[in-house]
Amino acid sequence: MKILGTGSVLPKKIVTNEDLSKFLDTSDEWITTRTGIRQRHVISDEYIEDLGAEAALKALEMSGKSLEDIDLFICSNVVNEYITPSLACVISEKIGLKCSCFDINCACPGFLFALDIAETYYRAGRVKNVLIVCADEPTRMCDWSDRSTCVLFGDGAGAVVLGEGDNILATKTHSQPAVDKLWEKRVIEPTPYITKTETNVPLQMKGRDVFKFAVSASTTEVVDLLDSIGMKKDDVSYYVVHQANMRIIDAIKNFLNEPECKFPTNIADHGNSSSASCAILLDECNRKGLFKEGDILVFSAFGAGLLSAAAILRW
Ligand code: ACO
Repeated sequence: MKILGTGSVLPKKIVTNEDLSKFLDTSDEWITTRTGIRQRHVISDEYIEDLGAEAALKALEMSGKSLEDIDLFICSNVVNEYITPSLACVISEKIGLKCSCFDINCACPGFLFALDIAETYYRAGRVKNVLIVCADEPTRMCDWSDRSTCVLFGDGAGAVVLGEGDNILATKTHSQPAVDKLWEKRVIEPTPYITKTETNVPLQMKGRDVFKFAVSASTTEVVDLLDSIGMKKDDVSYYVVHQANMRIIDAIKNFLNEPECKFPTNIADHGNSSSASCAILLDECNRKGLFKEGDILVFSAFGAGLLSAAAILRW
């Protein structure tokens, strides 16, 4: 497939590190040094489906495709207000889209899992144009008195429209199940028969383990995927890496021995917006005109599961 259009939307409320220091035992210095994050956009009076719908319409407008042209809509999301229907259905109703649609919950690498699914449908001859929306509000998952998690996240939505082409050169998805590294639990409706104990647990993270997994999975997958299509690091124009932590991005850059100019980032302003992260970064770079035709983009993302994924695209 080929990316024909991109779009993104951020919530209007900006929360700085200074704002967090007013109610948490933290500081701008600690957060900036350990994560590279200076501020994040946080959902306040918006609904995540509205952000997703707006991002979708922006991507559609850029693509030149109409709603009727879209054969499949994949929505990547971890949590939203609806248990059912899927967020894909909620967004479809808002924008008037009538094609087949479903949600995936692949945490932070959701955009790359969606890309992999879209390409697989395309190669099977079942679709021509696909809409992907990644809409996530991880700030709703944290305990806001837990300074080790809530400072990391921000919310937002990113979208792409894919059409006919041969620009997706390779994709790879990977799972290394380890639930206790990054998880959250919600109590669902009890029934008269439930006798087990169930409790709400806000987002829990073993930060150092996630850090190590992220660096090792990302570097291994990037090297393997380039190798699988006979490409070398010198062929790569840009690495679009999940914006989880600047130190993770730096470690990947150092391991690959690649220059900083190949790693566009927005983490300082956005924090970690889960699966929306790569899609938002892609849209921001695209709208700034960073990518030239023929550029090779390598994507890499990692997160809860533990899951990771990579993709190589010719722009
Ligand atoms: N402000 C001040 N101090 C803090 C804060 C904070 N916000 N958070 C933790 N600390 C303290 C800890 O309590 C600890 O204090 P102690 O030594 O007195 O016990 C100290 O800082 C060091 O804590 P560590 O957790 O060891 O700090 P570390 O250097 O590992 O950094 C961090 C923590 C930033 C979470 C890091 O482990 C990390 O980035 N991990 C990756 C996590 C990540 O990016 N997850 C998201 C990826 S997956 C996804 O996107 C969902």
